[in-house]
Amino acid sequence: MILEMNKISKAFGSLKALDSVDFSAVHGEIHAILGENGAGKSTLMNLLYGLYCPDQGEIKLNRQRVQFKSSRGARRHGIAMVHQHFTLSPNLTVAENLALSCSKNKNPFFSPSKIKKWAQELADQHGLELDPSQKIEELSVGEQQRIEILKAIAQNCEILILDEPTSLLTLQEVAALFKMFRKLRENNKTIIFITHKVLEVKQLCDRATILKQGKVVETVVVSKTTEEELALKMVPKEGLFKPFKKDKKRSGKSWVELEKVTAKNNRNTVVLKDLSLKCYQGEVVSVVGVEGNGQKELVQVVRGRLKLDKGLRTCAVERIGYIPSNRQRDGLILPLSIRENFILEPYFLKECSSRGFLNHRRIERFAQHLIHHYSVATETDKKPVGFLSGGNQQKVVVGRELALKPQAVVAVNPTWGLDVESASYVYKQLLELNQQNVGILLVTIDLDEALKLSDRLYVLYKGVLTEIPTENWTSEKISLAMAGIS
Ligand SMILES: Nc1ncnc2c1ncn2[C@@H]1O[C@H](COP(=O)(O)OP(=O)(O)OP(=O)(O)O)[C@@H](O)[C@H]1O
Ligand SMILES: [Mg+2]
Repeated sequence: MILEMNKISKAFGSLKALDSVDFSAVHGEIHAILGENGAGKSTLMNLLYGLYCPDQGEIKLNRQRVQFKSSRGARRHGIAMVHQHFTLSPNLTVAENLALSCSKNKNPFFSPSKIKKWAQELADQHGLELDPSQKIEELSVGEQQRIEILKAIAQNCEILILDEPTSLLTLQEVAALFKMFRKLRENNKTIIFITHKVLEVKQLCDRATILKQGKVVETVVVSKTTEEELALKMVPKEGLFKPFKKDKKRSGKSWVELEKVTAKNNRNTVVLKDLSLKCYQGEVVSVVGVEGNGQKELVQVVRGRLKLDKGLRTCAVERIGYIPSNRQRDGLILPLSIRENFILEPYFLKECSSRGFLNHRRIERFAQHLIHHYSVATETDKKPVGFLSGGNQQKVVVGRELALKPQAVVAVNPTWGLDVESASYVYKQLLELNQQNVGILLVTIDLDEALKLSDRLYVLYKGVLTEIPTENWTSEKISLAMAGIS
């Protein structure tokens, strides 16, 4: 037995995030932690990684009791963690970030060029694509996720904790990662894998512990259970969203048109090439692909936030709801309360104001309404939004943007980190808006989601947009196109 966590409890104010949780993991196993948004998964692992102190309970490594005062203590004991949100230094390069986390590079003779070479080798070795000299602040969340994973692996740890590591990766990247995890398992390392995806648990994990509202439901041996059983243990409710066929009616009017657009990123490199796109009202158009292929710039162009080098943009709507890719940076103000975050944009709606003044009673009702409908797990809407679990932060962004009564919506990975039920709710909301003739542009890495919702589908690869005709809508064909193989 390598790791034991016994009777762990942790409260935040009146909220019991963890209630007498038992968890254990052995050498050479991949152990999944499953649970709905707010179940306590991240909190449990943050405790193990020394970021929080448990109120009660003990942690043992190889039968020795340990108490970490910080993550440094945990790292010293061979624990590494890939966080749900990113912890990279934005103004340093990829190579520098990787080198910082790896003590053997701290010697003064390790030159910048050597670090760069080392970082490139590390990435190649693990099948993840990156440019070592790029600054983190220029990267998309998907790219940052890849670097976080490499950073943890470079530490050469005994226990590797991964908090939803695959949410922004392609199928190929996930396959490459899984191969690497299996290799680590062969070398007797322990991997703890937080996810919402039961399929991944089935493919990769030996055991799974299911958490629910801060309590352990069960620890199961994965080979002795089915995907359905796992899903049911996590989400016992019925009535999950089933995609429905819409009666196809395009209004005939486009809300945004791009004609032969070429655009550069902030490093002056051409990232969109001769790109044309027409989105109609009442239509869901998906752009699938790996972040870093021009996704960020395409979204900026559609929203009118990036100067075009060549080409033309016409936009027929004023209010575009926007679900950004990086919720913590672009979608929320973390220290502000949930309620305040809800009205960052819709303050002018009648739900929030009267006669030009903010109306606090209405705002409170509005916040309660959204919290209820998106089942945001929180005791009060006065809680700082930064204290919510990852999935619940996402719900706040989505709820606000869709409540805005937008004429069109640009949604980038809208269900990042959401559990099955919440994701279904978001799909339902998007399609309902769509039925009311709102145009939706879905930029996503999640193929299933795109296939489920779209009327038309494009792949964006290295700045080139290719429409995929419906007869080619299979995950195999599309994921090949996403990897640049036609
Ligand atoms: N620093 C904090 N202060 C206050 N409450 C917190 C804090 N961290 C977590 N919580 C609360 O503890 C509960 C469990 O959160 P946690 O982040 O562990 O959930 P999770 O299972 O990781 O969910 P998700 O899948 O959405 O990431 C949530 O209700 C959350 O709001
Ligand atoms: Mg979490």
